[in-house]
Amino acid sequence: MAYLVAANWKMNKTIAQTIDYLDIFTELVKDIQKVDIMISPSFTALSSASLKVEKTNIKLGAQNMYYETVGAFTGEISPIMLKELNVEYVILGHSERRHIFGEKDNLINKKVQSALENGIRPILCVGETLEERELGKTLNVVEKQIKSGLAGVYMDMPFIDIAYEPVWAIGTGINATPEQAEEVHRFIRSLINELSKGNDSKTRILYGGSVNEKNARELISQKHIDGFLVGTASLDPNRFYKIITEC
Ligand code: G3P
Repeated sequence: MAYLVAANWKMNKTIAQTIDYLDIFTELVKDIQKVDIMISPSFTALSSASLKVEKTNIKLGAQNMYYETVGAFTGEISPIMLKELNVEYVILGHSERRHIFGEKDNLINKKVQSALENGIRPILCVGETLEERELGKTLNVVEKQIKSGLAGVYMDMPFIDIAYEPVWAIGTGINATPEQAEEVHRFIRSLINELSKGNDSKTRILYGGSVNEKNARELISQKHIDGFLVGTASLDPNRFYKIITEC
Protein backbone atom coordinates (compact mmCIF):
# COMPACT_ATOMS: atom_id res chain seq x y z
CA MET A 1 0.00 0.00 0.00
CA ALA A 2 1.07 3.58 -0.57
CA TYR A 3 2.32 5.50 2.43
CA LEU A 4 -0.28 7.69 4.11
CA VAL A 5 0.73 11.14 5.33
CA ALA A 6 -2.13 12.66 7.28
CA ALA A 7 -2.61 16.07 8.88
CA ASN A 8 -4.42 16.40 12.16
CA TRP A 9 -5.11 20.10 12.54
CA LYS A 10 -6.83 19.62 15.93
CA MET A 11 -8.73 22.77 17.05
CA ASN A 12 -6.93 25.07 14.62
CA LYS A 13 -7.95 27.09 11.56
CA THR A 14 -11.18 28.87 10.75
CA ILE A 15 -12.97 28.37 7.44
CA ALA A 16 -11.11 31.33 5.91
CA GLN A 17 -7.74 29.99 7.10
CA THR A 18 -8.58 26.53 5.78
CA ILE A 19 -9.36 27.96 2.35
CA ASP A 20 -6.15 30.02 2.31
CA TYR A 21 -4.12 26.94 3.28
CA LEU A 22 -5.72 24.79 0.61
CA ASP A 23 -5.17 27.43 -2.08
CA ILE A 24 -1.44 26.95 -1.48
CA PHE A 25 -1.37 23.28 -0.58
CA THR A 26 -3.41 21.91 -3.51
CA GLU A 27 -0.90 23.51 -5.90
CA LEU A 28 2.14 22.24 -3.98
CA VAL A 29 1.05 18.59 -3.94
CA LYS A 30 -0.80 18.33 -7.23
CA ASP A 31 1.80 16.08 -8.87
CA ILE A 32 2.34 13.74 -5.94
CA GLN A 33 1.00 10.30 -6.71
CA LYS A 34 2.98 7.79 -4.70
CA VAL A 35 1.83 9.00 -1.27
CA ASP A 36 -1.76 9.17 -0.01
CA ILE A 37 -2.36 12.62 1.46
CA MET A 38 -5.08 13.41 3.97
CA ILE A 39 -6.06 16.54 5.88
CA SER A 40 -8.48 16.68 8.79
CA PRO A 41 -9.75 20.20 9.45
CA SER A 42 -12.16 21.26 12.17
CA PHE A 43 -15.79 20.16 11.75
CA THR A 44 -16.87 23.71 10.90
CA ALA A 45 -14.37 23.88 8.02
CA LEU A 46 -15.03 20.38 6.63
CA SER A 47 -17.68 21.49 4.18
CA SER A 48 -15.52 24.22 2.62
CA ALA A 49 -12.49 21.92 2.62
CA SER A 50 -14.54 19.24 0.91
CA LEU A 51 -15.27 21.58 -2.00
CA LYS A 52 -11.64 22.68 -2.21
CA VAL A 53 -10.20 19.15 -2.38
CA GLU A 54 -12.76 17.82 -4.83
CA LYS A 55 -10.94 16.53 -7.93
CA THR A 56 -7.54 16.81 -6.23
CA ASN A 57 -5.22 14.12 -4.80
CA ILE A 58 -6.03 15.23 -1.23
CA LYS A 59 -8.36 13.08 0.86
CA LEU A 60 -10.50 14.40 3.66
CA GLY A 61 -10.51 13.11 7.22
CA ALA A 62 -12.48 13.91 10.37
CA GLN A 63 -10.90 14.19 13.82
CA ASN A 64 -13.66 12.28 15.58
CA MET A 65 -17.24 11.02 15.16
CA TYR A 66 -19.99 9.38 17.17
CA TYR A 67 -20.97 5.76 16.55
CA GLU A 68 -24.72 6.26 16.17
CA THR A 69 -25.93 7.56 12.82
CA VAL A 70 -28.87 9.73 13.93
CA GLY A 71 -30.77 10.77 17.04
CA ALA A 72 -30.70 12.64 20.33
CA PHE A 73 -26.93 13.00 20.85
CA THR A 74 -26.42 16.71 21.48
CA GLY A 75 -23.16 18.03 20.08
CA GLU A 76 -22.14 14.87 18.25
CA ILE A 77 -21.33 14.27 14.57
CA SER A 78 -22.59 11.19 12.76
CA PRO A 79 -20.76 9.07 10.17
CA ILE A 80 -23.57 9.81 7.72
CA MET A 81 -22.90 13.54 8.07
CA LEU A 82 -19.22 12.90 7.34
CA LYS A 83 -19.97 10.73 4.31
CA GLU A 84 -22.11 13.49 2.90
CA LEU A 85 -18.97 15.67 2.83
CA ASN A 86 -16.89 12.94 1.15
CA VAL A 87 -14.90 12.26 4.30
CA GLU A 88 -12.88 9.08 3.73
CA TYR A 89 -10.92 8.79 6.98
CA VAL A 90 -11.67 9.32 10.65
CA ILE A 91 -9.10 9.64 13.44
CA LEU A 92 -10.30 7.66 16.48
CA GLY A 93 -8.86 7.17 19.93
CA HIS A 94 -6.46 10.08 19.69
CA SER A 95 -4.65 10.61 22.98
CA GLU A 96 -6.33 14.01 23.43
CA ARG A 97 -9.73 12.28 23.14
CA ARG A 98 -8.59 9.64 25.62
CA HIS A 99 -6.92 11.92 28.16
CA ILE A 100 -8.80 15.22 27.94
CA PHE A 101 -12.25 13.90 27.07
CA GLY A 102 -12.06 10.58 28.89
CA GLU A 103 -12.74 8.27 25.96
CA LYS A 104 -12.30 4.63 26.88
CA ASP A 105 -11.39 1.64 24.70
CA ASN A 106 -14.98 0.42 24.71
CA LEU A 107 -16.34 3.66 23.21
CA ILE A 108 -13.47 3.85 20.74
CA ASN A 109 -14.24 0.30 19.63
CA LYS A 110 -17.88 1.21 18.92
CA LYS A 111 -16.70 4.16 16.85
CA VAL A 112 -14.28 1.98 14.88
CA GLN A 113 -17.06 -0.51 14.15
CA SER A 114 -19.42 2.25 13.08
CA ALA A 115 -16.83 3.87 10.81
CA LEU A 116 -16.28 0.55 9.05
CA GLU A 117 -20.03 -0.09 8.72
CA ASN A 118 -20.43 3.35 7.19
CA GLY A 119 -17.53 3.09 4.76
CA ILE A 120 -15.12 5.47 6.50
CA ARG A 121 -11.56 4.27 7.06
CA PRO A 122 -10.64 4.50 10.76
CA ILE A 123 -7.19 5.52 11.90
CA LEU A 124 -6.95 4.05 15.38
CA CYS A 125 -4.47 5.95 17.56
CA VAL A 126 -2.57 4.18 20.30
CA GLY A 127 0.38 5.09 22.49
CA GLU A 128 1.82 5.08 25.96
CA THR A 129 2.36 7.91 28.44
CA LEU A 130 5.85 8.77 29.66
CA GLU A 131 5.14 7.09 32.96
CA GLU A 132 4.05 3.88 31.21
CA ARG A 133 7.20 3.93 29.07
CA GLU A 134 9.42 4.44 32.08
CA LEU A 135 7.74 1.52 33.81
CA GLY A 136 8.48 -0.66 30.77
CA LYS A 137 4.80 -1.03 29.93
CA THR A 138 4.82 0.42 26.41
CA LEU A 139 4.10 -2.79 24.49
CA ASN A 140 1.47 -3.94 27.01
CA VAL A 141 -0.38 -0.63 26.74
CA VAL A 142 -0.28 -0.64 22.94
CA GLU A 143 -1.41 -4.27 22.81
CA LYS A 144 -4.37 -3.60 25.07
CA GLN A 145 -5.43 -0.49 23.13
CA ILE A 146 -5.25 -2.36 19.83
CA LYS A 147 -7.01 -5.51 21.02
CA SER A 148 -9.84 -3.57 22.66
CA GLY A 149 -10.09 -0.89 20.01
CA LEU A 150 -10.35 -3.47 17.26
CA ALA A 151 -12.42 -6.12 19.05
CA GLY A 152 -14.84 -7.70 16.60
CA VAL A 153 -13.23 -6.20 13.49
CA TYR A 154 -9.95 -8.12 13.22
CA MET A 155 -10.93 -9.39 9.78
CA ASP A 156 -11.40 -5.82 8.56
CA MET A 157 -7.72 -4.93 9.04
CA PRO A 158 -7.22 -4.09 5.32
CA PHE A 159 -9.70 -1.21 5.84
CA ILE A 160 -8.06 0.16 8.99
CA ASP A 161 -4.89 2.17 9.66
CA ILE A 162 -3.17 2.41 13.03
CA ALA A 163 -1.25 5.43 14.30
CA TYR A 164 1.35 4.89 17.00
CA GLU A 165 1.56 8.19 18.87
CA PRO A 166 3.52 8.09 22.12
CA VAL A 167 1.77 10.62 24.36
CA TRP A 168 5.10 12.09 25.52
CA ALA A 169 6.01 12.93 21.92
CA ILE A 170 2.78 14.74 20.99
CA GLY A 171 3.27 18.48 20.65
CA THR A 172 6.45 18.40 22.72
CA GLY A 173 9.07 18.71 19.98
CA ILE A 174 10.55 15.43 21.26
CA ASN A 175 9.89 12.72 18.71
CA ALA A 176 10.43 9.04 19.36
CA THR A 177 13.78 8.04 17.91
CA PRO A 178 13.52 5.95 14.74
CA GLU A 179 14.61 2.93 16.80
CA GLN A 180 12.03 3.53 19.55
CA ALA A 181 9.28 3.95 16.96
CA GLU A 182 10.39 0.96 14.91
CA GLU A 183 10.37 -1.32 17.94
CA VAL A 184 6.71 -0.53 18.61
CA HIS A 185 5.74 -0.61 14.93
CA ARG A 186 7.33 -4.04 14.52
CA PHE A 187 5.40 -5.24 17.55
CA ILE A 188 2.13 -3.84 16.15
CA ARG A 189 2.79 -5.54 12.80
CA SER A 190 3.22 -8.92 14.43
CA LEU A 191 0.18 -8.34 16.61
CA ILE A 192 -1.96 -7.60 13.54
CA ASN A 193 -0.69 -10.76 11.93
CA GLU A 194 -1.63 -12.75 15.00
CA LEU A 195 -5.12 -11.21 15.19
CA SER A 196 -5.89 -11.19 11.49
CA LYS A 197 -3.72 -13.75 9.74
CA GLY A 198 -2.10 -12.57 6.54
CA ASN A 199 -3.45 -9.03 6.78
CA ASP A 200 -0.42 -7.51 8.47
CA SER A 201 0.85 -5.90 5.27
CA LYS A 202 -2.55 -4.41 4.42
CA THR A 203 -2.76 -2.15 7.46
CA ARG A 204 -0.62 0.96 7.47
CA ILE A 205 1.09 1.75 10.74
CA LEU A 206 1.65 5.50 10.96
CA TYR A 207 3.92 7.27 13.39
CA GLY A 208 2.77 10.48 15.09
CA GLY A 209 4.46 12.72 17.64
CA SER A 210 6.57 15.78 16.75
CA VAL A 211 7.10 14.71 13.14
CA ASN A 212 8.66 17.53 11.15
CA GLU A 213 10.48 18.17 7.89
CA LYS A 214 13.82 17.40 9.54
CA ASN A 215 13.10 14.05 11.19
CA ALA A 216 10.65 12.63 8.62
CA ARG A 217 13.21 11.02 6.33
CA GLU A 218 14.94 8.98 9.02
CA LEU A 219 11.66 7.89 10.56
CA ILE A 220 10.13 6.80 7.26
CA SER A 221 13.24 4.80 6.39
CA GLN A 222 12.26 2.32 9.13
CA LYS A 223 10.78 -0.87 7.71
CA HIS A 224 7.49 -0.81 9.61
CA ILE A 225 6.69 2.91 9.45
CA ASP A 226 4.15 3.38 6.66
CA GLY A 227 3.41 7.07 7.00
CA PHE A 228 2.74 9.82 9.49
CA LEU A 229 0.01 11.53 11.44
CA VAL A 230 1.23 15.09 11.79
CA GLY A 231 -0.05 17.80 14.13
CA THR A 232 1.91 21.04 14.56
CA ALA A 233 4.03 20.80 11.40
CA SER A 234 0.96 20.17 9.25
CA LEU A 235 -0.47 23.59 10.08
CA ASP A 236 1.93 25.20 7.63
CA PRO A 237 1.34 24.04 4.02
CA ASN A 238 5.02 24.34 3.10
CA ARG A 239 6.22 22.31 6.08
CA PHE A 240 3.59 19.64 5.54
CA TYR A 241 4.49 19.46 1.86
CA LYS A 242 8.17 18.96 2.75
CA ILE A 243 7.28 16.08 5.06
CA ILE A 244 5.33 14.45 2.25
CA THR A 245 8.24 14.80 -0.15
CA GLU A 246 10.51 12.98 2.32
CA CYS A 247 8.33 9.87 2.02
O1 G3P B 1 -2.30 13.41 15.68
C1 G3P B 1 -1.08 14.04 15.51
C2 G3P B 1 -0.48 14.47 16.77
O2 G3P B 1 -1.05 14.12 17.94
C3 G3P B 1 0.95 14.79 16.80
O3 G3P B 1 1.01 16.14 17.08
O4 G3P B 1 2.05 18.34 17.09
O5 G3P B 1 3.32 16.35 17.87
O6 G3P B 1 2.84 16.60 15.46
P1 G3P B 1 2.39 16.90 16.88
